[in-house]
Amino acid sequence: MAEGSWYDADIARVIISEDEIREKTDELAKQVAADYGDTEGLLLVCVLKGAAMFMADFARALGRYGPPAELEFMAVSSYGEGTTSSGVVRILKDLDRDIAGHKVLVVEDIVDSGLTLSWLLKYLESRSAASVEVVALFRKPEAVKVNIPVRYVGFEIPNEFVVGYGLDYAERYREVPYVGVLKPEVYTRG
Ligand code: PRP
Repeated sequence: MAEGSWYDADIARVIISEDEIREKTDELAKQVAADYGDTEGLLLVCVLKGAAMFMADFARALGRYGPPAELEFMAVSSYGEGTTSSGVVRILKDLDRDIAGHKVLVVEDIVDSGLTLSWLLKYLESRSAASVEVVALFRKPEAVKVNIPVRYVGFEIPNEFVVGYGLDYAERYREVPYVGVLKPEVYTRG
């Protein structure tokens, strides 16, 4: 990790390091590769913006072990600028292609309340995908309670507001290469 990046001063503590993320991503890619074998037409569907970092790293890791995949991007929004889910899911950017008959793997950064994913899974199934599975790098305790089938989970993380590796607070901190908890004073800055 680079010393003295602007964000280090705002982070109270690191929850998951860059190395841990890299190792886990590799492990998840190996699991997916083993399950999907020589599947043709595998579609990775990234849910922007949070999952952008994970998509980039996961797709490259899968490329080393798995079948060829195509990359698709959607943007949906369930959060405002606050720290809790509003429960409202809006499509900001839809898929560019027909997914009928394709095996789809949704690439998510985090499952929190599960609202986004539960909506997204129904949406993708309604577009006649051959199968829809999910790989999520992080999962919070609430998500374990709701019955959302997340086949591949990287880390179970505590129910704290975390930033980094795609996760934002008011659109900032997505580029932080690790996952951490912000210092309380960050929230009270004007
Ligand atoms: C985050 C995250 C997931 C969703 C998870 O996205 O990327 O998509 O929230 O929360 P849930 O399980 O409670 O629905 P967000 O809507 O904040 O948009 P972003 O990825 O652009 O930050």
